[in-house]
Formats: sequence, C-alpha cells, structure tokens
Amino acid sequence: MLSLIIFSIVFTSSSLSLLPPHLDEFYKPPKNYNSTKVGEILKVRPPPGPIRSYLAPINAIAWQILVRSENSRGEPNVIVMTLLEPPDANPKRILSYQPFENAAILDCSPSYALLSGSFDIFETQCDLTFISMALSQNWIVIIPDHEGPNSVFPVAKESAFAILNCMRAAKTFINEDAKFALIGYSGGAHSSAWATIYHESYAPELELVGAALGGLFPNISALLENVNGGPYAGLIVNTLNGLSNEYPEFKNALHKYGPTLKNYCLFSSAVHYFGTHFNEHIYKNFLYDETMKKYYLKNDLLGQDKNPTVPIFIYHSKINEIAPIDETHKIITQWCKAGVTLEFAEDASYNHMVEAFSGIPASILWLNDRFNDEPTEFEGNCHWEKRVSNLLYPGVPNFLKEYLKISAKQYLSQLPIR
Ligand SMILES: *[C@@H]1O[C@H](CO)[C@@H](O)[C@H](O)[C@H]1NC(C)=O
Ligand SMILES: *[C@@H]1O[C@H](CO)[C@@H](O)[C@H](O)[C@H]1NC(C)=O
Repeated sequence: MLSLIIFSIVFTSSSLSLLPPHLDEFYKPPKNYNSTKVGEILKVRPPPGPIRSYLAPINAIAWQILVRSENSRGEPNVIVMTLLEPPDANPKRILSYQPFENAAILDCSPSYALLSGSFDIFETQCDLTFISMALSQNWIVIIPDHEGPNSVFPVAKESAFAILNCMRAAKTFINEDAKFALIGYSGGAHSSAWATIYHESYAPELELVGAALGGLFPNISALLENVNGGPYAGLIVNTLNGLSNEYPEFKNALHKYGPTLKNYCLFSSAVHYFGTHFNEHIYKNFLYDETMKKYYLKNDLLGQDKNPTVPIFIYHSKINEIAPIDETHKIITQWCKAGVTLEFAEDASYNHMVEAFSGIPASILWLNDRFNDEPTEFEGNCHWEKRVSNLLYPGVPNFLKEYLKISAKQYLSQLPIR
C-alpha cells in the first residue's frame, strides 16, 4: 500500500542519533515549499530511534512524515506527523491522536517525545498507553505535532489546520478511501475539537466519523484562573508563551506585566512553577487584561458561532483541578442547542489525570461504533449520563479496566504532583 506513493517520498539518510527538533534538519521545510499544496507530503523517514513506551507495548511500523500546512494567517508552515501501522492494520480506519503537549517550545513536540522517553515530556507515556489500545483495534494511528513549528499552544486555527492537513497526507500515504476519527485529552481535545469545527469548510473531502474529547477547556480564562496558585500553575506560563508565539499583540500586552518567563515542557513546568500565584505576584492582575482576553476569546470553544458537524463524545471528571466542569457544561449546552450529535459521559470521580485513563475504553468503544457506521444509541441529538467512573461505561471489557487501573497507578506514582 505504500508503493504507490514512493515517488513522492524523500528518504533522508538515517543517522541514528536522536536530535531534539530544534537541531534536527528533518523539521525544517525544503526550499520553495510554499509553492506546494496544503496536505502535501514533503519528507518521509523512519523515526531516528525506537518509540519508548514504558507502560504499554507499541507494536507497529513507524514513520515520520513532514506535511505542508499553514498558520492562522494562511502563511505556509510544516507539521511533523508520526504514523503507526500495526500488524493487520485496517487501511480504512485511521485515528488521529492529539497528545496533550500543552507547552510552548518545539522540543516538547510529540514526534520527539515519543522517542526520547524523558521525564520532561512524561505525559507522552499516557499518550502511548492510549495509542496502544487504538493500535489493538487494528486502526492506523497518526500523531500530528498539532502545535506546529512555533508551538502555538492553544491556538485554535493553526492546530485545526495542522490536524486536517496531516489527515490529508495520511490519506495519500495509506489509502484514498480511509475513514478518520479524532481523539484527544486536555490540550489535545482542544485542538481536536477545533479540527471538527473547521472540517466542513477546510477539508470536506475527508471522511470524519467522529471525535472523542476528554478534559476539554472551552474557556481559557477559566483554565488560567483555576490553575493559578495551584500545582499546575505552570500551565499559565505555557499558555501565555504559546499565545505569544502566534500573536505579537498578545506578546506586547503580556510584557506590560513582566518579562517572558522560561519555557518548560508540561511536567517540568508544573514542577518549576508549582503553587505560583501569577495573578497576585508575578504578572499582577494579568487575568483581567482586555487585550489578552480578546485572544483567549478568539481561541475559546465557548461563544463561537461555528460548532462541530460530526458526532462528538465528551468525557470529563466532575471534580477537575485543571479544567473546571462548569465550562464543559456550558459548551455541551451550546453544542446541543446548535444540533451537534453529542454524548456526554460525566465521571463523578476526582482528578483530571485519572480521567485521562478512565475515559479511554469508553472512547475507543464509541469511536469503533462510529467507524462501523452504527447510529448513536440515544434519542434526540444529545445524551448526558453521569457515572461513578467512566470505567463503568457499558460494554467496557474487564481486562481493559484492570489494565488501565494498573497503568494509571504506575503513572501517577511517578508524578511529582498528585
Ligand atoms: C514563497 O515565499 C517567498 C519568501 O517568503 C516569497 O517571496 C514568495 O512570494 C512565496 N511564494 C508563494 C508562491 O507564496
Ligand atoms: C469564562 O471564564 C471566566 C473566568 O472564570 C468568566 O468570567 C466568564 O464568564 C466565562 N465565560 C463564559 C462565556 O462563561
């Protein structure tokens, strides 16, 4: 299935040393690339090292593919995507998995994080557990570096374009008749949601069967307010720097409050800025800045008049120390009113990180039904159900529950913050 497109592939000579993206030539666009079309494949190589997965086996052939895309202003850029093809892959089913990178530097990119296995990018170990489950369904999994070459977390349009253009490239690479589904948690859910919103106008030729979105933050102000002074306060720095990477006006506005603070990948950022009260001490009252608010609103799912046009599954923990559930309730109301086909699985248990694990089996089952063209099992366009845990979602096999409980426990025991 790969032979058909070999002509468009540029194999780069494989040096086996693993370089961080800012030093790796593969991440740079070829000359004159702006005359290529969005979604075009510009380079292909086997990854320069094995995938390092500590909690789950990854049994797949891997490729890295450089894809032509564009930023929010329509200026050309390039996205690295990792493509995983399991043995007995079903070439008609491709899952685009958006990791929760949630950081503002290139060296935290998923394509590199999958290979580096370092603590700095430790959230990738969760991603790999979930990816392992998707591969076990014989789905091909693509993992776009959806924040793009400028790490513009959490910029809506740029990441939507990145995801949709990587799906176009996957279609060329694997199969013109492939169907796609999306999944993401936290920042990965944010980007996935935006891809479903732009799908109809930007890439209607892609057959997208649905999206599973966990731990959404449809209101960026509420996210920043909620983590300020707490264990995940570092998300404030990552968000402010990520938005500064895309919007010069935002960056200038931030500089009225203080200098740019040092960037770290998600886990190091949480450790470094643990408990910092940014709004009180460092960037005093930045939460109320009108210019900056304009950019949160631009990228918020809440309050938009464009909504998803494919079926959506949302999972969220009730007591959520990062993404407050009230805002999720608001986006559910907005989307249900707009006629979106939506199932909401509300988990009564505690913790954003635990829910990342608990919601996966339900999401895989739900996405499998969409791939099978099965109708949703509820009346009307919206269904909202509360469960003690989403591991109790009907149809989840016991072995999956046990497996996820063990992985979650191992994972959480490594976290500096619980
Ligand atoms: C490509 O980029 C160069 C340099 O930025 C610019 O001069 C040129 O007009 C661009 N070409 C196209 C086709 O956009
Ligand atoms: C978003 O969150 C902020 C901060 O909590 C709140 O003031 C605002 O009303 C929220 N926006 C919407 C649309 O509910």
